[in-house]
Amino acid sequence: MPPTRVSMIAGATGEWRIERILAIRGDPLPVAERLRRVEGKPGSPPEGRWILHGVRSHERYTTHAEKVQLTSASPELGRPGMHACLIPIRKSAAWWALAQDERRALFEERSRHIGIGLEYLPAVARRLYHCRDLGEPFDFLTWFEFAPNDAGLFDELLRRLRQIEEWSYVEREVEVRLSQA
Ligand code: HEM
Repeated sequence: MPPTRVSMIAGATGEWRIERILAIRGDPLPVAERLRRVEGKPGSPPEGRWILHGVRSHERYTTHAEKVQLTSASPELGRPGMHACLIPIRKSAAWWALAQDERRALFEERSRHIGIGLEYLPAVARRLYHCRDLGEPFDFLTWFEFAPNDAGLFDELLRRLRQIEEWSYVEREVEVRLSQA
């Protein structure tokens, strides 16, 4: 089976209204009104102010026990009435120069990315796309959906993750806040 591709198409149309775009680290993305997230091939040739591509891929760091916990606590995307957030991320050359076991140790044993993340399930639904090998400006496109009432909880999750050691390897991060209005 070919990998599932995703296109994040920002422009005048799309199911999500872009509420704000925040440059957390590095360059921002251009202002646009709306965003379309298309998994698979876009029906019409994608046109937009900016378009980011990624693919759904296998997990790199998750242990079997973590996977079981994540699977049982993770809600599906597409629950009605949600807000969403797209966070494209690029990590530094120093991160990619590490060996697999060093990256895993940094990611979980030292930073507790999964441990912290699990505290915010099932409120937050998430999907990770990879794009480092596609020649894209980012390494990852991360996508989250949560109820408007849980926006504060999501902000708290972001504050905590941005303090962990893993985040010292993030060299570009943009937050695109979305609503269904
Ligand atoms: C909602 C709670 C969250 C949970 C449960 C969670 C869980 C995970 C897991 C299990 C992985 C590893 C996937 C693998 O094995 O390859 C991962 C990777 C990742 N997550 Fe999260 N995460 C959460 C929130 C976030 C947030 C809010 C961000 C962004 C601000 C984020 C950014 C990333 C990135 C960039 C990766 C890829 C890291 C890499 O491969 O180097 N995560 N997350």
